[in-house]
Amino acid sequence: MQKILVARPMFPDVIERLKQYFDVDANEGDVLSADEFTRRLADKDGALTAGDMVGAVQIAAAPRLRAVANMAVGFNNFDVAAFNAANVLGTNTPDVLNESTADFGWALMMAAARRIAESEHFLRAGQWNRWSYDSFLGSDIYGSTLGVIGMGRIGQALARRARGFGMRVCYHNRSRVAPEIEAELNAEYRSKEALLREADHVVLVLPYTKENHHTIGAAELALMKPTATLTNIARGGIVDDAALAVALRERRIAAAGLDVFEGEPSVHPDLLTVPNVVLTPHIASATEATRRAMANLAADNLIAALGVGPRAGRPPNPVNPDVLGKARA
Ligand code: GLV
Repeated sequence: MQKILVARPMFPDVIERLKQYFDVDANEGDVLSADEFTRRLADKDGALTAGDMVGAVQIAAAPRLRAVANMAVGFNNFDVAAFNAANVLGTNTPDVLNESTADFGWALMMAAARRIAESEHFLRAGQWNRWSYDSFLGSDIYGSTLGVIGMGRIGQALARRARGFGMRVCYHNRSRVAPEIEAELNAEYRSKEALLREADHVVLVLPYTKENHHTIGAAELALMKPTATLTNIARGGIVDDAALAVALRERRIAAAGLDVFEGEPSVHPDLLTVPNVVLTPHIASATEATRRAMANLAADNLIAALGVGPRAGRPPNPVNPDVLGKARA
């Protein structure tokens, strides 16, 4: 039987499914250190990961490794060049999380704009002693302009929600989306700079790549309206968190909502002390149904990529399909 590593604690029924095909080494404890991960991977044919770094070192240490299934749509934890060099297949879990993630982005944007977390802390701290006309004034969502950076599947799901809120939608993306999608979403293309100047609420939904590192830094924050909000449901590192904390503290923008952080699970200490930011621990896709769908899709991918099960050899979501069918190098 082929051996696999399940690197993070996982739904028990998904582990049971995997056991029908594989000898499973399931980590039921804390996140493995890089060394421990590499050591546990060394005798495996495949792995199911969730953000664990897999690159040339891990692949070289695991000569039988042929497939790694990430339980996430983002796969910036894979060094795809190293995967290709060794003919190791990587897979991800797109689509099943689009609507839950867009819902959460919307919730975070609204919480930031309407100061929900900040005012709840105030109430819990026993500081509420009167109604006042100027308590916790925020920015409207209804009738405002949404700016989506990264118009992929989740960005489009966000733009669709904007219709019910009477919003104008502008977007920036590496390339323009098809005219029929622009028409359906009523979304207008802008340069990043024009979008930042125009939008009342900017939401980031782009993948993390070297080119996207600090897509939003001090210079970009300076272009935004002082009443605007910024929401990051994409990846840590797309925003310069230190520069954002300064902009929030100095009220150069009104508020932010962050679900992802540079160096998470650590959070930049300055973000923890500014009041006008809503912070959540990378849970945008975290509904019971969606996380189950992601886990099962990652399992489907791994089973098929390792040549067993009903879709043997045809995993649904390869990120580097060119290596399919090639012998491990
Ligand atoms: C979560 O961050 C994902 O990429 O699915």
